[in-house]
Amino acid sequence: MSNMQLCSTGLLAFLVILPHFCWSQYAAPPGDQIWEVEGEIGLVTTMLQDKGLVDILDESRSRKIIRVGLKNSIDVKFILLQHKLTYKILVKDLASYLKEKDGKTIKTRSITCTDLSCPQPLSDAYMTLDQIEWYLKELNISHSSRVNVTSIGKSIEGRDIWLVHIRPLKCRVDGAVWIEAGIHAREWIAPAVILQLIPKLLEDCSRIGYLDIFIVPMANPDGYLYSWTTNRLWRKNRRINNNTSQVGCDGVDLNRNWDYKFGLFASSNPCSETFHGASGFSEPETKALSDAMIAVSRDYNLLMVMAFHSYGQFILHPWGWSTEEAPDTPMMISRATLWANATKKRYGTVYKVTSTTVGLYAASGATDDWAKAVLQVKYSYTVELRDEGTEGFVLSPNQIVPSSEEVWDGMKILLTAVGPGDYIYL
Ligand SMILES: *[C@@H]1O[C@H](CO)[C@@H](O)[C@H](O)[C@H]1NC(C)=O
Ligand SMILES: *[C@@H]1O[C@H](CO)[C@@H](O)[C@H](O)[C@H]1NC(C)=O
Ligand SMILES: *[C@@H]1O[C@H](CO)[C@@H](O)[C@H](O)[C@H]1NC(C)=O
Ligand SMILES: *[C@@H]1O[C@H](CO)[C@@H](O)[C@H](O)[C@H]1NC(C)=O
Ligand SMILES: *[C@@H]1O[C@H](CO)[C@@H](O)[C@H](O)[C@H]1NC(C)=O
Ligand SMILES: [Zn+2]
Repeated sequence: MSNMQLCSTGLLAFLVILPHFCWSQYAAPPGDQIWEVEGEIGLVTTMLQDKGLVDILDESRSRKIIRVGLKNSIDVKFILLQHKLTYKILVKDLASYLKEKDGKTIKTRSITCTDLSCPQPLSDAYMTLDQIEWYLKELNISHSSRVNVTSIGKSIEGRDIWLVHIRPLKCRVDGAVWIEAGIHAREWIAPAVILQLIPKLLEDCSRIGYLDIFIVPMANPDGYLYSWTTNRLWRKNRRINNNTSQVGCDGVDLNRNWDYKFGLFASSNPCSETFHGASGFSEPETKALSDAMIAVSRDYNLLMVMAFHSYGQFILHPWGWSTEEAPDTPMMISRATLWANATKKRYGTVYKVTSTTVGLYAASGATDDWAKAVLQVKYSYTVELRDEGTEGFVLSPNQIVPSSEEVWDGMKILLTAVGPGDYIYL
């Protein structure tokens, strides 16, 4: 199909979905604040999170950044005082802070679709769920010889979870890679970067072209939509839990719901941001993702699994549930270091290479641990994208392009290195 045809379809689709663009609200529940707890090693804030009283936004440093709802703020204040912890209020009114940020980004937004730029994922704005779906369906048509977009199942609210299969450009050498993004709703930069990688992968003529690449750009569509319409800092899926009279007690943390060491280091409290759900794979999203991954690992030689999150700038390897070394740890570290070195080159962005438990915290039920333990993939990673906390989850859209460029630098090296590079040189 020619560019011309593609772009006229593209323009039409944009006209249809344009009205939705206006409901980006960057909303937050009234009274939510952001606090910084000083000198806290994590025990107290983790306990507060398990009780469903706070939402820990940044665990990667000694001072903890937490989100506190209006109705919990007195309890949290009291418990911090009991533990002789001091805090300061970083954001007094999250809702107006987000609104102001939103106003700034929307004004610079432009929607254009020309022969040359169409169809491409937006690079100057975060895409709505509708726009993402439109792009994926366009891609499926415009690149039908290499791309197959299929639904691997439905979310709890009945939305499709899309899998993009990019077939090898060159003769197949039986190596596949799985990339996941968007399992945590508020981490908008992750799907944005992964969407940017799709055209880069399709235009690439290097040895990466020998691989089968499977991409889920949006693993938690319901949560993502909710983070646009209702609560910008929503993390979980949208399961309605049993005791739902309280705000924030819905949803399951999908990255604690994978059925390996289930429930060991995650909260059993539905009001917690890290609620692991009723049982391993209780959620349709994780069930769909894992079933599709099992199918890929049965039909292909699955070499690597990467799950993209934000923020903190890490490339993490298993385990999340234990400080023990996972199999292939030296090789995982070596390849992750290649990635981190290449990613740093362009803009100097430093990504730390470490295991989840050692570098961050103990957490069970994540994609990377399950892929390592159950599918036994050699290379299994969780990437925490930009930044290191300046903007955190509400990273400005002008970070989409540089983040994608540096991640692409890393991916080119990593995909070449983990691929069956040896016999590609035959
Ligand atoms: C796309 O993938 C689906 C599901 O695996 C498969 O049934 C279908 O034949 C594929 N289509 C193409 C054109 O490869
Ligand atoms: C993508 O195209 C294939 C045929 O090439 C089709 O089987 C599949 O249903 C399409 N996917 C979507 C999401 O439209
Ligand atoms: C809901 O509340 C009841 C009574 O407080 C409690 O026994 C039950 O465990 C709660 N359910 C969940 C899923 O937390
Ligand atoms: C909610 O209650 C139902 C019925 O009692 C139970 O099957 C389900 O596991 C509960 N959900 C959660 C998240 O506890
Ligand atoms: C990464 O960069 C560091 C510092 O420049 C260097 O010592 C190391 O050998 C590099 N590692 C890899 C795997 O490229
Ligand atoms: Zn995450």
